This record gives sequence, C-alpha cells and structure tokens, in this order.
Amino acid sequence: MNDHTFDEQTARGWIRGIEQGNSQVREQDIYPRLRAWLERAAPTRILEIGCGQGVCSAKIDLSGRIYIGVDPSPFLIDRARELYTTAGREFAVGNAYELPFSEKQFDAVFSVMVWHLLSDLPKAAFEMCRVLKPGGHFLIVTANPGARSDWEAIYLNQKIDGRRFEGDLVLDGKIFDHDVLYFHTQLEIESALNRAGLQVDTVEPFRKSKPDQAQEYLISMQGTRPASTDSSL
Ligand SMILES: C[S@@+](CC[C@H](N)C(=O)[O-])C[C@H]1O[C@@H](n2cnc3c(N)ncnc32)[C@H](O)[C@@H]1O
Repeated sequence: MNDHTFDEQTARGWIRGIEQGNSQVREQDIYPRLRAWLERAAPTRILEIGCGQGVCSAKIDLSGRIYIGVDPSPFLIDRARELYTTAGREFAVGNAYELPFSEKQFDAVFSVMVWHLLSDLPKAAFEMCRVLKPGGHFLIVTANPGARSDWEAIYLNQKIDGRRFEGDLVLDGKIFDHDVLYFHTQLEIESALNRAGLQVDTVEPFRKSKPDQAQEYLISMQGTRPASTDSSL
C-alpha cells in the first residue's frame, strides 16, 4: 500500500485548518448533507471512517446514538479525544483497510474527505460493507472525479502517476500541505462499492469554487448494504 496517511506535521496542519478556519463549504454543504442523511438513515450505531480530529461528530445530533470515529493518525485521535468528550462518542486508531470491529456492527457508516486519499478502494469498500449491518446505510463525501483538473489546479510541484497525484497544496498563496490523492473514476468508485456488496442509491456532485466553474468539485455517494448481502464472499 502506497497511501500517504497523515503524519504529525500534516495532522497539525489539518487541526489548525479545521479549528481556526470557518469553512464555508463544510458549514453550507457538507454538514447539512451529513445531517440530512443521518435523519433519513435514523441509525443507533454510527461509524465514521477517517474522522480526523473529530469535528464531524460535533456537527450531528448524537442523542440516543453511539458514535465511533476511527483514524489511522494517533495524533488526530488524541486531539479528538481531548476536544469531544460527551457521552456516546468514542475515538479509536483504525484504518479503512482493516477496521477494528467485528462484522455487522453499525447501522450507518460515513466518511468525509477520505476516499480520494485511498489507493485501494475495493479493500476499503469491502471493509465498510463488512462492518455495516444488512439494511445499514453509508455516505461518502469525496473529491468529484469529474473535477480532477480543478483539483490539480490548486497544487504546485505535481507528480502524476496514473490515478496517483502528488503535490503541494497552495492556500492563500502559501504552501499549506503536501498531499497524495487518488483520482479514481466515478465508475471505479461505484464498482468497488457494488462488488463489495453495497448498493449505491444516490450520487450527487456539489459545490463549485467559482460560479463559472464547469464542475462541482465534491461528490456525495449514498447507499445501503442490502438486507440479503453476505460480505464474507
Ligand atoms: C482531509 S482529512 C478529513 C478528516 C475528517 N473526515 C473531516 O472531514 O473532518 C482526511 C483524513 O483521512 C484520514 N485517512 C487517510 N488515510 C486513511 C485510511 N487509510 N483509513 C482511514 N482514514 C484515513 C487522515 O488521517 C485524515 O484524518
């Protein structure tokens, strides 16, 4: 696996960005989508894959619910535990490729701004399906594969190798971070989910960074693990 999981420096940058910034895309688009999806899914046990410093758990109504957030960065998990301490919330170190749970544990699983960091989508999709209960719901918010050129435009010092894209993210004229992204096509994402036994119900591109931009730069995919699926294939 050649994934660039967040090291301490990247994690610090992410914490600073989230905790100091007032992200309009998050407040206006991502969190409302997450809340609307949760309302429809009405889950009791929720898993967030790649929870970062845990901010999404603070943007949803967790009353009467159990939320678990996992992330491979111990640094981010420590920060999440420090910040979000109310009952019903837990954070654990864990990777999308090897979730630290037995099967059929969750009514709903979501992942925000993580799937474009994953090289092996079939493996991540299989794991997501494995831990979902039959009839359970998933939501993925990730980079819109159709807006690859808009994503590439915000990076300097690019290295491109097929689906793999590496570069320095420039924000407000300064290098903010070094990222490795994977531009899987929408078809590849959907087939990874389908092959894992998940059903994709809705695919919705959203959010333009400029009104005249041709493509929305994010995409949400929602669906279910059909009641009859057995992921131990
Ligand atoms: C852009 S941040 C998003 C964090 C959080 N989902 C949010 O929206 O606030 C991407 C997160 O994906 C995590 N990540 C990277 N590779 C991962 C993997 N293989 N499994 C799970 N999470 C991963 C990173 O550690 C980081 O916390």
